[in-house]
Amino acid sequence: TQGGATPEAGSTVPSGATASQTAPGPGTSQTAPGPGAPGIGDPDFPDDGNGGYDVGRYRLDLDYDPGRRHLSGTAAIEATATQGLTRFNLDLSGFTVERVTVDGARARFERTGTELTVIPARPVASRAAFTVEVAYAGRPRPVTDSSNLGTYGFIPTKDGAFVTCEPNGAKTWFPGNDHPADKARYEFQITVPEGITALANGELAAEPKTEGGKTTYLWREDHPMVTYLATMTLGKFVLREGRTASGIKNLAAADPRFRDSLDRLYTLSGKITDYWATVFGPYPFSSTGGVVDDFSTGYALENQTKPMYGGFAPDEDIIAHELAHQWFGNSLSIKRWKDLWLNEGFATYAEWLWQEHQGDATAEQSFRLHYSAGPGDAIWKYAPGRARPDDLFNNSVYTRGGMALHALRQKIGDEDFFELLRTWSSEHKYGHVTTEDFTALAEKVSGEELDALFDAWLFAEKKPTSW
Ligand code: ARG
Ligand code: ZN
Repeated sequence: TQGGATPEAGSTVPSGATASQTAPGPGTSQTAPGPGAPGIGDPDFPDDGNGGYDVGRYRLDLDYDPGRRHLSGTAAIEATATQGLTRFNLDLSGFTVERVTVDGARARFERTGTELTVIPARPVASRAAFTVEVAYAGRPRPVTDSSNLGTYGFIPTKDGAFVTCEPNGAKTWFPGNDHPADKARYEFQITVPEGITALANGELAAEPKTEGGKTTYLWREDHPMVTYLATMTLGKFVLREGRTASGIKNLAAADPRFRDSLDRLYTLSGKITDYWATVFGPYPFSSTGGVVDDFSTGYALENQTKPMYGGFAPDEDIIAHELAHQWFGNSLSIKRWKDLWLNEGFATYAEWLWQEHQGDATAEQSFRLHYSAGPGDAIWKYAPGRARPDDLFNNSVYTRGGMALHALRQKIGDEDFFELLRTWSSEHKYGHVTTEDFTALAEKVSGEELDALFDAWLFAEKKPTSW
């Protein structure tokens, strides 16, 4: 599903889309069918995602053998055409594609780089619902060649896999529309050797079934989700399951090497989720929790319902951060990567709010500490309101993004500020957001003119001097 608040075809293509990438609007549906664009229209990531259709659900039926590092199975992608399609693309990195069908009929396909082009036997009509099924197999390879993003995607481990895909690593394990502008529901049927646990988003939809030395897990994420939050993390895990004090399902999992951190992960994840619900509004998903695996990524990822920590026992700050993302990033998602501060600035500010709630540093103290960086500091040269594709996760997007929120809080006062956070979360629940949406809502809620504040904090390449 694209665009959240305004789901009509053609109305929600990210700005910067070229004419050929823009789906026809209402009234132009008579246009002759043509090829879907190879990118969804994010000018900073021109190859990511695809045009011409909107995915509603992924049904992944996958078998992984950790010994051979071999993944095989089928991906059924239920989509709606936003234009007549003579051909369209999926994103997929590596693997041998064995067969592609569209609505059950064999389709031709071509591959170049990470683009899989599907040529259906007959064009797909504009607005038609259709299902494309891809059978594929091979050794998954995570992305490792990116300048400063580390290793991400499907990462094979000794006993399974650690799967964290932000920004565009979903294509390393399933074909799809790999860009946050297209959210979908997911069903994961995962078969692994007996004794290995498979963890995916959402809830187990059936009891795991073991047969002939293999166990099959069925997980379902019934809330819209972007591709980079999808996971099928596999391995030996110790688990703790239950509910938070407010009644939200809670599942913590830890690699046996991190067994000692399981209880703390479980307890803190529950406590923090409950607290955020009082600050940001009702928890948007069906469960919370966290997973610690033994592969050192050097980062954590807010995988929907199951944040993942790569090779370390997380402290409170980072748990608070990843759980705040369930609202900011996961329920409310960006449609262009340049707006990433809407995820990371909010999650960083949440760390400061959690510390304040704990009676440690106040948010004001955290703000002051970071603000004390000298005018020559790199953080002031990078405008967080415009994340750069070659340095997406720059500290400024996090810290200066958080500072922008604190500057706003100072200006409009606590009452308006926290009402703004709750209105923001509820108005755009499960949808897509832009920086302009946020600044407009901030002005509406506060009744103040805030251009100068946002310009200074989000867009200026120099240290702000007022707020
Ligand atoms: N969103 C994650 C966080 O803030 C960071 C993901 C970084 N991704 C990467 N490939 N390095 O916790
Ligand atoms: Zn984050």
